[in-house]
Amino acid sequence: MPPKLISPLFPWLIFLTLVFIFLYSSLLPFHSSFSSSRPPSNKIRTFSPCDFFKGRWILDPSRKPMYDETCPFHRNAWNCLRNKRDNMDRINSWKWVPATCDLPRIDPFRFLGMMRNRNIGFVGDSLNENFLASFLCILRVADVGAKKWKKKGAWRGAYFPKFNVTVAYHRAVLLAKYEWQPKDPSVGEQDGLEGIYRVDVDTPADDWAHIADFYDVLIFNSGHWWGSDKFPKEKPLVFYHAGQQIHPPLEMLDGFKVVVENMVSYIRKHLPHKTLKFWRLQSPRHFYGGEWNENGSCLFNDPLEELQLDLWFDPRNNGVNKEARVLNQMIGDTLKGTDIQLLDLTYLSEFRADAHPATWLGRKDAVEIWGQDCMHWCLPGVPDTWVDIVSELIRIGLETG
Ligand SMILES: *[C@@H]1O[C@H](CO)[C@@H](O)[C@H](O)[C@H]1NC(C)=O
Ligand SMILES: *[C@@H]1O[C@H](CO)[C@@H](O)[C@H](O)[C@H]1NC(C)=O
Repeated sequence: MPPKLISPLFPWLIFLTLVFIFLYSSLLPFHSSFSSSRPPSNKIRTFSPCDFFKGRWILDPSRKPMYDETCPFHRNAWNCLRNKRDNMDRINSWKWVPATCDLPRIDPFRFLGMMRNRNIGFVGDSLNENFLASFLCILRVADVGAKKWKKKGAWRGAYFPKFNVTVAYHRAVLLAKYEWQPKDPSVGEQDGLEGIYRVDVDTPADDWAHIADFYDVLIFNSGHWWGSDKFPKEKPLVFYHAGQQIHPPLEMLDGFKVVVENMVSYIRKHLPHKTLKFWRLQSPRHFYGGEWNENGSCLFNDPLEELQLDLWFDPRNNGVNKEARVLNQMIGDTLKGTDIQLLDLTYLSEFRADAHPATWLGRKDAVEIWGQDCMHWCLPGVPDTWVDIVSELIRIGLETG
């Protein structure tokens, strides 16, 4: 470089360096408060319930699950420790950090103490059963005498004798009552129709209709069965209202909306106001490269990046996992103005492509028969974070309710 150029440039370089140092050091305090997950004060939380649903996952290698493969409330296909799923340490090292507050981990002793003589019910499909299994294994830490409980039409559950608390799941995949009606053999050929599933949109399924007053907290969900793999066109859903078939016949998604509307109005009319009610939004699926029966897979080592989420889940991108946000929109619209709280666990779960049982299902031929499981969640795993959130919301609900 010719010497004459150095002199005019040099002061500028020094100046720019100083500017840079000044900017950097003035940004530093903000930066360090961002990277700390501690809130300024724990007390604020009680008075302004925090939005637990927006935030990010950060890696915290010191984080450990609260239970292991020996918990008696596991379901085999989700017991990823027993099934020796790869990466389980890392899956359970991610910590969900809400953007504006701290999410405390559930303290099962304190929680069951608070719930003494009260009961919690889950109603819906196997994703709520997945949620329940996590809840039971965590609560059992505080009461190893927990016993299996299957009364009042419950599919499964547990009773915690030290605290006189029951937590159970009622299987009702569509929430509304539905039944198989084979085709009348005297009717001729109709495009391969084998029969119909009659759905009474205004009638709750027997599995939960009569249990409502037993529970102090109820957590509903539905969504994973509303697809043509469960109800193909040879065995379609046909919707009835007040005992009469709805005309013109509803498409599956319109039927979903009408069922949600009717179930919400049933809940509001027939369940005590003091019952804490939640509606859990969709648990996202992570089939990559095809549906479950098209070799779709979820062999990911890490959560997705935020920028990838729309690609996977925005319906406009028409990917294989697009239905969750569509259904959520309908549920959200229907629940506005009701006393049923939205449990919006979708966004935080959308990241976790790494945390499904995938090929580790506990049976050699399982993948061949059912494909990978990129829908349910490994336990311990993501539903443990759902438990942290719902237990906080229950605490807040009981304290302020
Ligand atoms: C246990 O809780 C139920 C309410 O779920 C209550 O009716 C019953 O009296 C309680 N039993 C005892 C021994 O406190
Ligand atoms: C899935 O993979 C198997 C084995 O590689 C292959 O035979 C089959 O055609 C694939 N199915 C689809 C729908 O891609």
